[in-house]
Amino acid sequence: MQVQTILSLFPLTLVLGCAITPYSGGNDTSTQVEKLLSQMTLQEKIGQMTQLDFAMIAATTHINPNNPVDQAKLEDALLNHHVGSILNAPYTPYSKAQTRQTWQAIIKTLQATTAKSRLKIPVLYGIDAIHGATYTQNATLFPQAINMAATFNPALSNQEGAITAKELRASGLHWNFSPMLDIGRQPLWSRLWESYGEDVHLASVLGTAFIQGHQGDNFAAPDKALTCLKHYVGYSMPNNGKDRTPAWLSERMLREYFLPTFAAGINAGAPTIMVNSGEVDGIPGHANHHYLTDILRDELGFKGFTVSDWADIKNLYRRDKLAASEKEAVKMAVMAGIDMSMVPFDYSFYDLLIALVQEGEVPIARIDEAVRRILTVKYQAGLFAAQPAMTAPSAQADAEALAINRQAAHESIVLAKNATHLLPLKKSARIFVTGPTANLLSALNGGWTITWQGDDESAYPAEKQTVLEAIQQQATGPVTYVDSTTLAANNGLQQAAATAAKHDVIILCLGEKPYTETIGNISSLNLDPAQYQLAKAMISTGKPVVLVTLGGRPRIITDIAQQATAVVLGFLPGMEGGTAIADILFGAYNPDGKLPISYPRDTNDHVLYDHKPSEAFEFNRYTPLYPFGHGLSYTEFQTSGLQVAKKSILLGETLDVAVTVKNTGSLTGKETVLLYINDVAASVTRPTKQLKAFQKVSLAPGQSQRLSFTLTALDLSFIGVDLKRIVEPGEFKVMVGKESVAFWVEK
Ligand code: BGC
Repeated sequence: MQVQTILSLFPLTLVLGCAITPYSGGNDTSTQVEKLLSQMTLQEKIGQMTQLDFAMIAATTHINPNNPVDQAKLEDALLNHHVGSILNAPYTPYSKAQTRQTWQAIIKTLQATTAKSRLKIPVLYGIDAIHGATYTQNATLFPQAINMAATFNPALSNQEGAITAKELRASGLHWNFSPMLDIGRQPLWSRLWESYGEDVHLASVLGTAFIQGHQGDNFAAPDKALTCLKHYVGYSMPNNGKDRTPAWLSERMLREYFLPTFAAGINAGAPTIMVNSGEVDGIPGHANHHYLTDILRDELGFKGFTVSDWADIKNLYRRDKLAASEKEAVKMAVMAGIDMSMVPFDYSFYDLLIALVQEGEVPIARIDEAVRRILTVKYQAGLFAAQPAMTAPSAQADAEALAINRQAAHESIVLAKNATHLLPLKKSARIFVTGPTANLLSALNGGWTITWQGDDESAYPAEKQTVLEAIQQQATGPVTYVDSTTLAANNGLQQAAATAAKHDVIILCLGEKPYTETIGNISSLNLDPAQYQLAKAMISTGKPVVLVTLGGRPRIITDIAQQATAVVLGFLPGMEGGTAIADILFGAYNPDGKLPISYPRDTNDHVLYDHKPSEAFEFNRYTPLYPFGHGLSYTEFQTSGLQVAKKSILLGETLDVAVTVKNTGSLTGKETVLLYINDVAASVTRPTKQLKAFQKVSLAPGQSQRLSFTLTALDLSFIGVDLKRIVEPGEFKVMVGKESVAFWVEK
């Protein structure tokens, strides 16, 4: 098979129908930046490259809730060490959501202090606002990314971005460490739920939409804020499934699966990138010159700045033993391409980098390059201009945000099984509810909610509903709840089962409690034994069981799901998730979420939907419990009439594809039509199918719609033998639903 076309690496446009522009690197601000740079001392420059945790400026005694900053520490950071960036929220003992007023006071204090400095360079404050403004009290907290992916709705991702940015700016915050564009192809990984799932196309589209909503055309606008792509690159695929442990990715795999989402994020205009905290192929992310400079700068054309992840320059020495000292680690990281260090708890990076430059170990040109990038972002974010008033969103904006959040939660929940049309339930049914996730807001939200781990249930807003509370509110018949955590051993279970048997239906809520990062590491996807025992007891009643799962990973539920009559996969649907699940259970909302991952049948069932032919050859099969894209509705849809505009196209040409989708059931509902391709024979083995486009439509009963798609050369491309992106002529298939149509690419 001959290589016929070499494509430029990645596309400049995606499917959103609006213009997207890569971050320019600041042609318009270069004069101001150069002028400022020419006035800066070495110390002032390296201060700009230093990012400290809030703890470094925090008042430790008598925390004043209205302004927890220690002015002396702050002046040491900003005036003596010229620090350019602060991250995280005030501690008790970990970062915790603050009121908007507290944030405003903190930011004003920082601004007033930099105003006393020689060059008055503003601080850029970074925060993890990964499903809304995590660290602002009463923020709109959306479904987590895995759920946003299940919506297959880029418009919702765009609105999530816009609302998050607006709420951050109301707190005076400019820089969000989001979106995470690591691909979720390792189900054990404790951050899977922070990803948009296993598919490259879906994640690229949703990430692009989020960035556009968050930044708009001008991220200096008073309701827009900077995004930060993370964690560049290859972080999400630890071999053993544990966070921050080695990935072994070939460059082909990296280029096929892990780089494209970052390319999409760069093309969408993200001006900052956070670096992979782990290692790929034996090289820690923070020391990888090839990734950070050759690929990121020279190939992907990224013009913004890179920030290290948490203490990861130190980790090159103290964890990875790549460097023989912390000083050598600083040199390695900076020379590899790190522009800003998330230190976060001392001035070591600042002191060591000054020494390295003075000793001639790091050229001043490299420092100037990093500082130029940082200052440019600060100028473009409008930080040097007078700051707009930090105004709270209006009551109307809050109401709109709530409605959008509710919609996102609805669309993010996957009805995986509905035997005998058990769902929707009659509101008058006698309902028994149990399980460890039934009555926890934290189980709906996951990590990065109010606190880092998201597990401080007492800090959650009382007015939001757990699954149980929402069921209790919506049901008109009796609802009995038994708290499964108090069921001691078998006797308790037997009693609970006896009570459950007196009801019409059992709602069994299983899954995970919140976690993130290394704290969420596990060695098996199995649920804990207590949950299996509870499930067994409930199933033994003979009553219909609705299994509702919550949590960030697909824990193994195969036996339970087979015996349950209905299965609702909730993942982490956010603050409106409890209400949204009850809406689906009672039919107030017709479910339309689809799985953005392959739900494994067993702990080692890691075959993904875009598997290679050998994974489904002879005795091998792709047999997850539920496949990627699976999701039922209370109505029925059919696709038909799949057609390609031409049977053959020339290399480089586009191809129009059309298909009709019809609502053949009796309720209005939404359907996402998924379009896959297969390159029938190629010089590198190709996935049996790969998603290349999707559209979500709402249809009334009997209504149909003809949908059009356009496949581009990029959609037909892959990483060839010589690691370049190519299209090879020959036969391709396009597939929608049960139909498949062949077409040919000719020289
Ligand atoms: C995480 C990042 C996060 C950073 C700042 C790190 O530990 O890996 O995702 O943005 O902390 O909180």
